Amino acid sequence: MLEQLDKIIGGRPVSIPGPTPGRTDTIGRHKIYRRKEPHKSPWKPSLERSPNLVDRVLWRTLCDLANAKASWPLFLYGPVGTGKTCAALAFLDQAAGGGLYATVNDLVDWMLHHYESQSRWDWMESAGLMVIDELGTRTREVDVEYQAIKGAADAREHSPTIWVSNLRSEGIAGLYDERIYSRICCGTWYELKGNDRRFSP
Ligand SMILES: Nc1ncnc2c1ncn2[C@@H]1O[C@H](COP(=O)(O)OP(=O)(O)OP(=O)(O)O)[C@@H](O)[C@H]1O
Ligand SMILES: [Mg+2]
Repeated sequence: MLEQLDKIIGGRPVSIPGPTPGRTDTIGRHKIYRRKEPHKSPWKPSLERSPNLVDRVLWRTLCDLANAKASWPLFLYGPVGTGKTCAALAFLDQAAGGGLYATVNDLVDWMLHHYESQSRWDWMESAGLMVIDELGTRTREVDVEYQAIKGAADAREHSPTIWVSNLRSEGIAGLYDERIYSRICCGTWYELKGNDRRFSP
């Protein structure tokens, strides 16, 4: 039997936003199970990431999400270099059930090359967990970027997804619009604070 992620980490839920008004609080709650064998996922292989170096409260929040105690998606935001990408990948490395990682730029590239495909979002819908990184860093293809984010957000609505950004939620609403904000910010939020760990690990 697969172990749940929190069996190895433990901890109690801390600072998880309450249910959004107007929604039942079970929407978007999906369990994620831990891989049996340690595994480094193929995404960003050169980036070293350890679960032990992830902010403890963030890790507990991820475990709560994995145990269906909080609602997906996770909107993970904070200043440059605070460890957002490493945290998301460390979690993805441990998750069973098929994981995907893409930056918004990757999604834009992919849209530009596969725009005609009818089933272009199917593979994304079937992933057990998806990390979408660098939201808000604006590519040159503004219209395609909007469609890529909207398509991904629709494909992953209420599914286990981690959206990573340097922008706060109001920045997302301002840069894109309320439709994107609604899809990305309807679950759990976590602000990762601190110094740029590239300078002071
Ligand atoms: N869990 C971790 N394991 C190992 N190293 C880490 C971890 N978290 C942070 N670091 C260190 O901090 C650096 C910055 O982390 P990361 O790239 O995740 O930041 P970020 O918040 O995604 O930054 P940006 O906003 O620029 O994308 C990493 O290159 C690594 O050296
Ligand atoms: Mg990053």
